[in-house]
Amino acid sequence: MHAPSAPRDSWATRAGFILAAVGSAVGLGNMWRFSYIASQGGGAAFVLTYLVLVAFVGIPLMTSEFVVGRLAQQSPVLAIKRMAGPRWAFLGWLFVICGLGILSYYSVIAGWTLRYAIDAVRNAIPADTGAYFGEVSAGPDALIAHLIFMAATIFIVARGVKGGVERANLIMMPLLFFILVALAVWAATLPNGGAGYGYYLRPDLRELLNPEIIADAAGQAFFSLSLGMGALMTYASYLRSKENLAREATTVALADFGVAFLAGLVVFPVIFNFGLNDQIAESAVGALFIALPAGFEQLGRLGDFVDSAFFVMLLFAALTSAISLLEVVVAAVVDGLGWARKKAALAAGAFIALLGVPSAFNTDILGAADQIVGNFLLIVGGLFIAILVGFPLRERAEAELAMGMRSEAARRAWIVFLRFVAPPILLGVIIFLAEPTWAAVLTLFGAGGG
Ligand code: PHE
Repeated sequence: MHAPSAPRDSWATRAGFILAAVGSAVGLGNMWRFSYIASQGGGAAFVLTYLVLVAFVGIPLMTSEFVVGRLAQQSPVLAIKRMAGPRWAFLGWLFVICGLGILSYYSVIAGWTLRYAIDAVRNAIPADTGAYFGEVSAGPDALIAHLIFMAATIFIVARGVKGGVERANLIMMPLLFFILVALAVWAATLPNGGAGYGYYLRPDLRELLNPEIIADAAGQAFFSLSLGMGALMTYASYLRSKENLAREATTVALADFGVAFLAGLVVFPVIFNFGLNDQIAESAVGALFIALPAGFEQLGRLGDFVDSAFFVMLLFAALTSAISLLEVVVAAVVDGLGWARKKAALAAGAFIALLGVPSAFNTDILGAADQIVGNFLLIVGGLFIAILVGFPLRERAEAELAMGMRSEAARRAWIVFLRFVAPPILLGVIIFLAEPTWAAVLTLFGAGGG
């Protein structure tokens, strides 16, 4: 009862696709998680480990998602089953579960961001940012902001690939880059910010082969690059052009890293300039939502302007990522059940909004969901994508990549990475993450049972 005869939506331009993929990748993960983890875990050693993982695992996997997506011209949920057989159908479902699960709590954090952005523009962020964050981050305020953010995400996705997703990215992403660069330049002029760079990038090289750092870096790479759950696969399914997908993946990954790195060059000088360093260690969100606005506050007039720019930028980053998370679910419903896009966006979005209610009231639940879905399951998904493309789909995937990538040696290398480099690394990380993930599962149930 599906296979509608109307032509499937697609990107208007190649730049539109790349910008949307960068928009998916660049999100809250870049602005807050990256600098936090880097500062906690070995500074420059973390950044180095992260880059190695992006090159050896991230880019080959992103290329795989692009290749399968373009090859399928369909939602990954149907496509994987069709191409690899019913035994692989679980992977498409895993993608949908990740899309639902991540967006449910991501939207709550995005809701805080929305609230901060509005209050920053209205000059209404109080001096006691800790108390303010406590009020905004859990409870009715958080719920309302979460629902408004979901409504905005649904609205954009309902308008389609060209008219909604592509256009929203075309507007928001250039503004985001502009604001971020301006903020980084401004941060460099702060008189006492220098120590912040030192803390952020201290070369703690003993940490280089620490398995904990490797696991952190892998989790961060998957989350930040939007890998392991079919988001970029879905985006690539709207591609018609025959570009070199490995090159596109490299562009997206480098842009994502660049933004994360730049965000750290804003966050740390500000925090150190105002002597707020003790607040970073307290919590992952402390740096972004408590210390940073407290620093801006001390700048008076200028601060009112800078904090507006910062939180509006953060909001754009969150929205362009949320769009891609919802699109995975919506594409599955549109292609699988033949529903109209508007109806699918509304139904899926409403379901996710509901799913996020516990996270809006309890940040422990939010954190547990992030650990289970946003960290662990993405790596599991990534492992299966590597095996899928490295083995059963190898020939077709290689032929698809060959349309834009002439070099046979490069394609062979890609397969070797997928077969022999990514799986052992990801398996190791999965084993390492099993324990904290199990603890998160217990938190979820413990909190649920009171
Ligand atoms: N990459 C996004 C971020 O860094 C989050 C995300 C994960 C988006 C997975 C889509 C898929 O915030």
